[in-house]
Amino acid sequence: MPLTFAFDVYGTLIDTAGVTESLNRLVGDQAALFSSRWRDKQLEYSFRRGLMQDYVDFSVCTRQALAYTATQLNLPISDQATQALLDEYRRLPAFPDVPSALERLQADGHRLYAFSNGLPDDLEALLDSAGIREAFIDIVSVHEIRTFKPNPAVYRHFLARSGTDAADSCLVSSNPFDLLGGMAVSMRTAWIRRSDANHFDPWDRQPDQTLASLTELQQAFNE
Ligand code: LAC
Repeated sequence: MPLTFAFDVYGTLIDTAGVTESLNRLVGDQAALFSSRWRDKQLEYSFRRGLMQDYVDFSVCTRQALAYTATQLNLPISDQATQALLDEYRRLPAFPDVPSALERLQADGHRLYAFSNGLPDDLEALLDSAGIREAFIDIVSVHEIRTFKPNPAVYRHFLARSGTDAADSCLVSSNPFDLLGGMAVSMRTAWIRRSDANHFDPWDRQPDQTLASLTELQQAFNE
């Protein structure tokens, strides 16, 4: 049965570690640590903004998290280098398994959407430069309702925008917090476990599918 897929963007389709090379030049062997702290802080800021009902767009969370990480690790980054990193954040690469997996799902008649915390313009630029924009019917951004994942309102917003019943939808994400958000409104879920170092939260729910990459998605939902 054709499904409506909601693809999380950062970390699922797009590799946020793509900035590691530039970070290497700036902070040497601290690059991997810097990149993961930056990503964690970016998400923490989005969670806190959501809880406080003090919305700023995701690019602000990204910028402020970068400033915090540089201070915390005592690795100052110039204004010019900061701007270059943020520009690069709009041109991150897709994971290698992504383009062909999207093509196959599309060929099977599934409806594909990108669904993200990011700003609509940033997402357009990002998916376009990664060469995968064409795969999606549309981009659904949390910016349309001014709050962040995993507020249940954003998952309901996705279902309303795509005109889908939860039972006919599937949220595809590498982020367990995101999948738990989708489950809370009864979406089907596929966890893309991109590394063995990633673990699902030991809450009372587990994803319907756990897959090492997007490549196995087509088979998992070919019923
Ligand atoms: C997103 C973040 C959660 O793309 O990865 O929405």
